[in-house]
Amino acid sequence: MPSAITLARPGPGSPVELAPGVHWTGALDPGLRVFDVILRTANGTTYNAYTVRGSAGVAVIDTVKAEFAGAFFERLEQVARYEEITALVLNHLEPDHTGAVAELLRRAPQARIHVAPRGLDMLRALLKDEFADYEVVRVRTGDTVSLGDRSLRFLTTPYVHWPETQCTYLEEEGLLFTCDLMGCHFCDERLFNDAVGDFRFSFEYYFDHIMRPFRRHVSDALDLIEPLEIAMIAPAHGPVLRSHPREYITHYRRLVTKRLASEVAQKTLLIFYVSAYGATSQMAAAVAEGAAENADVRVSLFDLAVGEVAPFVDLVEEADGIVLGTPTINGDAVKTVWDLLASFVDIETKGKLGGAFGSYGWTGEAVAMVESRLQGLKMRVPVKGLRIKLHPTEPELEDCRGFGRQLSAHLTGTAEPREIDFASL
Ligand code: FEO
Repeated sequence: MPSAITLARPGPGSPVELAPGVHWTGALDPGLRVFDVILRTANGTTYNAYTVRGSAGVAVIDTVKAEFAGAFFERLEQVARYEEITALVLNHLEPDHTGAVAELLRRAPQARIHVAPRGLDMLRALLKDEFADYEVVRVRTGDTVSLGDRSLRFLTTPYVHWPETQCTYLEEEGLLFTCDLMGCHFCDERLFNDAVGDFRFSFEYYFDHIMRPFRRHVSDALDLIEPLEIAMIAPAHGPVLRSHPREYITHYRRLVTKRLASEVAQKTLLIFYVSAYGATSQMAAAVAEGAAENADVRVSLFDLAVGEVAPFVDLVEEADGIVLGTPTINGDAVKTVWDLLASFVDIETKGKLGGAFGSYGWTGEAVAMVESRLQGLKMRVPVKGLRIKLHPTEPELEDCRGFGRQLSAHLTGTAEPREIDFASL
């Protein structure tokens, strides 16, 4: 027989019990539509803060966005007195979780602040002159804070998604506080994953836009989390995952694992181009031809005239090298190329090989502009971009093939050492 669902709706200002002595004391923000300028949400978000009561003290885990501090304090005061708070745990210092920290510390100045070492500078910036008034404990994986009959254990999980992010584990309850990890922007006052509406889209959307660029770090965090006994996952946004929490960990593991298993052992080079009069298209074909002479490189050629870039993001994420061909129009690269480059913000590009080429009529700035953007994405651009005025001649097409050969050589580690002409720097 299916078990009954508890529709725990926090009334106006009511805390919600997760386990005996463990409460959600966060805030609902159903009106939010755009988070952090870029992230959309169709039904708002929540800022989840928690309190844990032990026989020798109370811990507060994270707070809320500043505008919602009133709701946070109202809920907190129903489960603890300020003088009982012995520990303030800051899993993440982004403002949506630290908006009530300064005021909380004024009300509970005895609380020791527990933060990952890399969070110290940010905490100092947050508290300004008041920083010196409080005791700060820098915690790392394995460190614990005792609340008497209960203890919190820390897991250092950097870059999920800021340098100082960490998770906190309430050992006796198997309850893991993950902050942004496994969170999502989804506001439903019923709060628990087995009671709220369908949030699968929000969960994956949040992963794609917040966690995906840090996939390797999320994987490292999962390495720490997977061995734990988990009864409930309490993130800082969206539903509390009390039903089948292990499935969310498994799902995250799937999301961080390569989406496109390559059936070949070669390096992969993607060549994207846009062509106005066919010249950049000719260049692209020749670059691909030269690159493909290297049997250890798998070359793919794509015409961005299709206009859509989203389908390519998975490919780019898994590729070893990305080359972009663009004409210069009105002193700029064409919009589709910029659109593709903009989509790289959701994936890790650091260390990939990049390159640019293109035909031009008068000024030809586009190639250098694209190269500069690739470098800004921390890609390596070892071969100087190739520009050709109007349509390429046969010798110029041979230059394109040579450009492709050099790119493949850099991908496979067989490139000749480059002599640098200081006059060109
Ligand atoms: Fe929910 Fe990274 O802040």
